[in-house]
Amino acid sequence: MGQCILGIESSCDETAAAVYGPGGLVSNVVASQLAAHAVFGGVVPELASRMHLEALLPVVRAALADAGLTAGELAGVAVAHGPGLVGSLLVGVCAAKALALANDLPLYGINHLEGHLYSNYLEPPAPPLPHLTLIASGGHSDLILVRDHGHYEVLGRARDDAAGEAFDKVGRLLGLPYPGGPRLDQLAEQGDPQAFAFPRAWLDGSPEFSFSGLKTAVVRVCEELGAVGVADRLADLCASFRQAVVEVLVRKSLGAAREQGVGHLAVCGGVAASVGLRRALQEATVAAGLTLSLPPLRYCTDNAAMIACAGYHRSQRGGPDALTLGVASGLPLPAPGAWAGREVA
Ligand code: KG4
Ligand code: ZN
Repeated sequence: MGQCILGIESSCDETAAAVYGPGGLVSNVVASQLAAHAVFGGVVPELASRMHLEALLPVVRAALADAGLTAGELAGVAVAHGPGLVGSLLVGVCAAKALALANDLPLYGINHLEGHLYSNYLEPPAPPLPHLTLIASGGHSDLILVRDHGHYEVLGRARDDAAGEAFDKVGRLLGLPYPGGPRLDQLAEQGDPQAFAFPRAWLDGSPEFSFSGLKTAVVRVCEELGAVGVADRLADLCASFRQAVVEVLVRKSLGAAREQGVGHLAVCGGVAASVGLRRALQEATVAAGLTLSLPPLRYCTDNAAMIACAGYHRSQRGGPDALTLGVASGLPLPAPGAWAGREVA
C-alpha cells in the first residue's frame, strides 16, 4: 500500500477525495453541493468555497478510512489546482499542501482537464496511445491529441459556450432544475430529435466548437411557442437540441481522429454521461472502424478518482511540485516534458 496516491478535487461544486494505487482505485468519496446551488439556479462561488471548507476534511478522512490507510502511509498527494473557481480550488490545494508537509509526502498539482482525461484509465482496458480525447464538460469542449502520458496537443476548443454550458443554459430556459444537462438528456429520450431544425455550427471542418448560436435558436423557438407551447413540446425541444449538440461533437471528433491518423477515440467530462451522446458515439465509431473509450457514468462528472489516477501516473513518470504550487481559474494543460522537469522545492 506504500505506493498509493491520495487525490483531492474541489474545483467547482463537488468536494471529493480518492485513493489510487498500483492495483487501481482503492477508495472514492464524493460530497456533492448540487442541491445547495440548485436553489440559486447555478453555482454560487462563495457558497461553494464555504461548503468545500466544511466537507473537505471529512471527505479526505473517509477516503483514507475506506482505503484502510493513514496519511503517513501514502506515497503522495495529488490535487486539482485549476482550471476552476479560485476560492474552491484554494481549499483543496491548501489541504493537500498541509497533508504533504505534515507527512513529508510529494505534492502533485493536477490540471482538472488532465484529470478528466484519466477517467478513461480508471477501468481497463486503458485507451491505446496515441489517441484522440474529447473533453465535454460544463466549462470545456476540447479535442486533444494524447501522444503519451503527459504529452497533450490541444487541437481545438469551444469558441464560446461549452457543450455542458449549452445544456445547462437551455435547461434553464426550459424551466428544468440546475444543472439542466442530466434532466434534459432524460427528457430527450422521449422526444423526436427531428421535431425542430436547430442549427449546427460546423465551422468549416475546424476542430473548434461553437454552441451559442444553437442556444439563441432555442430561445427564438421558445419565444414563438410561448410558455404553454414549450410545456407541450418539452420532450421534442430537448431531443432536437441534444441531437444538434451530439451530431457536432461526434462528427468533429471523428473528423479530427481521421485527420490525425489515430484509430481510437476517448470521451470524458460531465456531458459524456449523456445517454444520447454515448449511443451516437458507439454507433459512429463502429461505422468508422474506430475503437472507443467511455468512462463509467460515475466517473464522467467531477470526482477525485480521476485526480488520484492522474497523480499516480505522474508519480511514475515525473517529479512532484513545490509547496509554492498556485491555483488558476484558467490553466493550460501541461506542456510536453513538463512532468519530468518538476523539482522539489
Ligand atoms: O465535468 P463536469 O462535472 O464539470 C466540469 O468540469 O465542468 O461537467 C458538468 C456538466 C454540466 O454542464 C452538466 O449539465 C453536464 O456536465 N452533464 C450532462 C449530463 N450529466 C452531466 N450533460 C448532458 N447529459 C447528461 N446526462
Ligand atoms: Zn470537470
